Amino acid sequence: MGIEIIPTAAPVGAEIRGVDLDQTLADADFEAVENAFNDHGVIFFREQPLSPEGLLAFTQRFGNIAFNVFGEDHGLADHPGVVVISNVEERGREIGVKAAGSRWHSDMCYTAKPPRGTILCAREVPDQDGLVLGDTCFAATHAAYDDLPDAMKRQIDGRKSVFDFAGRKRAQVITQEQRDRFPAVTHPLVRTHPHTGRKCLYVMRDDCTGIVGMEEGEAQRLIAALADHIIRPEYVYRHRWQAGDVLMWDNCTVQHMAIQDYELPQRRLMHRTTFAADTPPA
Ligand code: SIN
Repeated sequence: MGIEIIPTAAPVGAEIRGVDLDQTLADADFEAVENAFNDHGVIFFREQPLSPEGLLAFTQRFGNIAFNVFGEDHGLADHPGVVVISNVEERGREIGVKAAGSRWHSDMCYTAKPPRGTILCAREVPDQDGLVLGDTCFAATHAAYDDLPDAMKRQIDGRKSVFDFAGRKRAQVITQEQRDRFPAVTHPLVRTHPHTGRKCLYVMRDDCTGIVGMEEGEAQRLIAALADHIIRPEYVYRHRWQAGDVLMWDNCTVQHMAIQDYELPQRRLMHRTTFAADTPPA
């Protein structure tokens, strides 16, 4: 059976059928999967309950494992590259990162070299009387850029956004060690995807703290307007999870947000890996 690629109705997202991720993919199959990843920004495979070893092996075909500061305490003991995302508690201790990604963001934008992509493997998915909860939403940053008026494109092309870890509008407490490890960085506000050549917006309300060379108030207004534009419904694919899903996203092409509409005893348990970019967006 050949590989089937079934795009969603949104500007990002496609289901891939006809591959067994538990087996090492033949080079031609891997190339087809990687092309689909580049083209669709989010791809997913149903009924592929990968082991941590299998997940790591699949991830490493796309790039080296990247470590997320928020996952440092929640990597699997024998596979620290696999981070547990979960609301589950055992013996009074949270077994994973709780409420991860509850705001729109692109992973590790506060680092000098943000990762190329992230993979989630769904182990347990919460529901209420059969109604699935805990969806994840993905917004297409290229479609959002394409639709901007020319005047706005002229205003932002060539600009740089500032990401200051210490200044992020997030609930997590930041330690002095983390502040020292992640000094403020800048990235192009409009990034060119290294594989597709498409222009992608790189700005978020909670993580982007300024725009180089722009007065504070003006920068905040521009950040808010662009961030809200990116997440308009027409650019969003909302993934409804099934246990056994493997889903991966491209951190240049999409921003994502996890919906926190469940609580214990509704259990959600994901395994996450993140992989670096050989060729970062320009
Ligand atoms: C994340 O932002 O990495 C978490 C996404 C999710 O749990 O759905």
